[in-house]
Amino acid sequence: MQETIGIVGAGTMGCGIAQLAAQHGHPVHLYETDTASAATASERIAGVVDRLVTKGALTKKAAQELLGRIQVCRSIEELEPCSLVLEAISENLSAKQELFESLSDVCAPSCLFATNTSSLSVAAIAAEATNPERVLGLHFFNPAPVLPLVEIIPTDHTTQEVVKRAETLVRRWGKTTVRAKDTPGFIVNRIARPFYGEALRILEEGIADVATIDSAMRERSGFRMGPFQLMDLIGIDVNLTVTETFYRAMGCDPRYEPSKLQAALVAKGHLGRKTEVGFYDYRTGAVELQPSADSALQLNISERIVAMILNEAAEARRAGVASVEDIDTAMVKGANYPRGPLEWIRQIGPATVLAQINALRAQYNTERYRPSPLLETWPTDSHPT
Ligand SMILES: NC(=O)c1ccc[n+]([C@@H]2O[C@H](COP(=O)([O-])OP(=O)(O)OC[C@H]3O[C@@H](n4cnc5c(N)ncnc54)[C@H](O)[C@@H]3O)[C@@H](O)[C@H]2O)c1
Repeated sequence: MQETIGIVGAGTMGCGIAQLAAQHGHPVHLYETDTASAATASERIAGVVDRLVTKGALTKKAAQELLGRIQVCRSIEELEPCSLVLEAISENLSAKQELFESLSDVCAPSCLFATNTSSLSVAAIAAEATNPERVLGLHFFNPAPVLPLVEIIPTDHTTQEVVKRAETLVRRWGKTTVRAKDTPGFIVNRIARPFYGEALRILEEGIADVATIDSAMRERSGFRMGPFQLMDLIGIDVNLTVTETFYRAMGCDPRYEPSKLQAALVAKGHLGRKTEVGFYDYRTGAVELQPSADSALQLNISERIVAMILNEAAEARRAGVASVEDIDTAMVKGANYPRGPLEWIRQIGPATVLAQINALRAQYNTERYRPSPLLETWPTDSHPT
């Protein structure tokens, strides 16, 4: 008999992770406080699973068994038999702290507590739990059943045994794991900030339009989507909230300053695909934007944004956020980057990136373009340790 998994919050992430665990044979107790969300959770998961059957990825019988393993719960006591409870409730520190405090009374001391937070400190969430050594971050990406990466975030209290247990479980679910320090944005949400932020700067300065910037990132740098296409897909409001939370958590460092243009779009209700207007217009009859054919302009844009991403990756490594290997794996598997950013620095040379950042600093005279000291001390022809 497989161990029972508890999931708290039957929203986007909770439903996805419940499906994933049940797909791998676990009985799942999915606890939700909101009546409407609890009522629709099973249907929501069934809808996704039905599509897998239609595509031939799952047999009808396997789908029925999978759905039969998920029990939607309305009382927290029903999480008692679980050996791991993962919370995916709204991104609110006090709500998450209260939840772990309540779970401490319900679950056995050996039960692991995991949080799927994107932007809060795992240690702060763990603060009200008894036995904080069993708490860690397990950061899945959306959609959880599909995206291959999970960031594992131990706190200073989490034991190695707990990390190992969680890592083994998540790997059995077919995920690639990386370990990240409990710092803002962990790996992916930190290193990805300049992908959006620098693109927005270039747009605000009037250097190029969204279609040209997106085209430069796709065609010149090999990203699957341009930053504006991606923000429209994620939701410009969602992206802005992550940027603002990250900016505050990093002490309002100018490197991460949110864009006024992005905030203005949110204020107007232009949130991207979900509202049919964002950086692009998705309404029928809208004129399709064409990128500029100026190849020197495209090259400048892609080099500038990539230099900022690589500088951030170097900073993350310098700050000990993760190992060289895990930083590269996380950005390729978690954000679909064409290359690991630290490998990218090695390929083009740290001196090149340093020169690009220094040129931006000379041009704009702001701390936003502050090179990572790691670029200056990078060992020749290898990776820093
Ligand atoms: N959506 C994403 O792309 C994404 C990706 C990675 C991580 N995350 C993180 O995952 C978490 C959940 O995000 P989401 O997008 O699934 O949110 P969501 O709003 O879709 O779902 C949250 C659910 O939790 C329920 N809930 C709230 N408080 C509760 C409580 N005390 N007990 C039980 N249920 C409760 C809500 O009713 C809601 O159904 C957040 O911490 C978020 O930062 C989200």
